[in-house]
Amino acid sequence: MSIGRLNHVGIVTPSIERSAALWRGVLGAMRIHDAFDLPDQGVRVCFVDTPNSQIELIEPLGDASPLIRFLKRNPAGGQHHLCFEVPDIAAAAADLAVKGARVLGAPRIGAHGVPVIFLHPGDLGGVLIELMDDPLGHP
Ligand code: CO
Repeated sequence: MSIGRLNHVGIVTPSIERSAALWRGVLGAMRIHDAFDLPDQGVRVCFVDTPNSQIELIEPLGDASPLIRFLKRNPAGGQHHLCFEVPDIAAAAADLAVKGARVLGAPRIGAHGVPVIFLHPGDLGGVLIELMDDPLGHP
């Protein structure tokens, strides 16, 4: 596989509303999309546009959310993952398996409505990496 464009940086927050206010008021983000729920993943998501990428604000949804543990360790929230585009997610997953990088679970439909996988941070220097299928190769 060959890593593609940085699609977004994921940031966990206890409150999308408060974080969106910071990104708008302090950092001057001009375009903040409407938040929406991904119940299967136990998260609520809100995208903030930046000129060359996006910020994904992620808030726990429900008592079983995988983000609750993250917020216990980081009560104010914080940087959670980096998401890069790849042209073929199945080919990327197969290549990563050969290289011994662990893929966390099966591909699932991510916040952009296309298949994504997550890679174990223990195999990537402590960084949680999301790969997002982008067969059209944007931009
Ligand atoms: Co993401």
